[in-house]
Amino acid sequence: MEKAVTEAPTTSIRISNRARLTPPSPIRKLAHLANRAKAAGTRVYHLNIGQPDIESPPEFLEGLRAFDQKVVAYEQSQGNEALRAAWSAYANRTLNLQTSPEQFLITVGASEALVFLFMTCCDPGDEIIIFDPTYANYLGFASIAGVTLVPVLSDMEHDFALPDRDRIERSITPRTRAILLCNPNNPTGTVYDRQDLEFLFGLCEEHNLFFVVDETYREFVYDDLQPLSMLHLAPQSDRVIVVDSLSKRFSLCGARVGSLITANQSVLAAVLKILQARLAAPTIEQFAAAYMLERIGDNYLENMRREFLSRRDTLYRAVKRIPGVAIHKPRGAFYTLVQLPVRDTDHFAAFLLDTFSHHGATTFIAPAAGFYMQNDRGTDKARIAYVIRSTEIEEAVTVLAAGLERYQQQYP
Ligand SMILES: Cc1ncc(COP(=O)(O)O)c(C=O)c1O
Repeated sequence: MEKAVTEAPTTSIRISNRARLTPPSPIRKLAHLANRAKAAGTRVYHLNIGQPDIESPPEFLEGLRAFDQKVVAYEQSQGNEALRAAWSAYANRTLNLQTSPEQFLITVGASEALVFLFMTCCDPGDEIIIFDPTYANYLGFASIAGVTLVPVLSDMEHDFALPDRDRIERSITPRTRAILLCNPNNPTGTVYDRQDLEFLFGLCEEHNLFFVVDETYREFVYDDLQPLSMLHLAPQSDRVIVVDSLSKRFSLCGARVGSLITANQSVLAAVLKILQARLAAPTIEQFAAAYMLERIGDNYLENMRREFLSRRDTLYRAVKRIPGVAIHKPRGAFYTLVQLPVRDTDHFAAFLLDTFSHHGATTFIAPAAGFYMQNDRGTDKARIAYVIRSTEIEEAVTVLAAGLERYQQQYP
């Protein structure tokens, strides 16, 4: 059961500023209220967290069973050889890339790759440019690594398009080391196209910065869009570092398998030292991931993509019907932001879980303030993850609409 993060001092022994100032996850911070609602018999629709309900590939589960070593030994720090080869071959085949296994370092999810990259690209106090709203855990990673994130605002009125050159350049200082882009984007569902990537890459070249692209959701693109990796545009560039993950693509969040991909030998060597210090990523999951990637067909991902497209359409249609609510139409990933007619979505989200139910059910949304470094920009917004079945999304949105009505009566 997820534990609430408490700020209350429980000991007189000092803990570090770094730990104290690391923000709690906005996605999980109301989980204790959801648990309480469930314990009281309320059905909770989880629109708060990007945990897909789709079954993991049978090839992965088969791979777990096929592990036949007598000792679960440490894997190599850089990752299981078969997995690096299989991941590279899989990316080359499905995305028409020309990566080599040596460009891949296997990490404990994309999360670990990002923390180690921050540590590798930056000294404490160095800066990374991000776009606000942002994946909330970047704030935690930066805090752990002692890095300062510098947000440049993208706004809902313009579909969260990239800010213009001027605004980005004004945020670049002598301490800036990298631009970090999440594409497709969590939390907005925006997909940045070739032109956007070329524009940011050009800026990185002009200002001698790393360009880190988090491609955790790369294949989740809808309408007429095709998956586009930064590795298509600048496969051999020293400044491009792609972060990747099996978590969402194959509904394997708990396997904790991610990677960092770059042609930059210095970055690979530097990250490897950090990987060596943490010894290795889990052996059996890496074995099973390699087993899966060597065997899986293209239909698994295509079915996932189609399912999320249908859920996106269901969510969009349903939310559009609620008076006073604005929804951004996402074209990728499985999230979007909605703007609600309330002053404080933190309070409203807690209200939904704590004191409200509709026919025995309630809806868990993620207040958006935690996705904005400029928190006040998010206080009237919430992030919705469309990771449950379409019929449940319909019900969850009905509950949300009823909750809004009640909330407005109670807190006019
Ligand atoms: C944008 C983004 N990057 C990275 C991660 C972390 O993924 P992993 O499970 O591979 O650590 C997530 C997880 O939700 C994410 O949304």
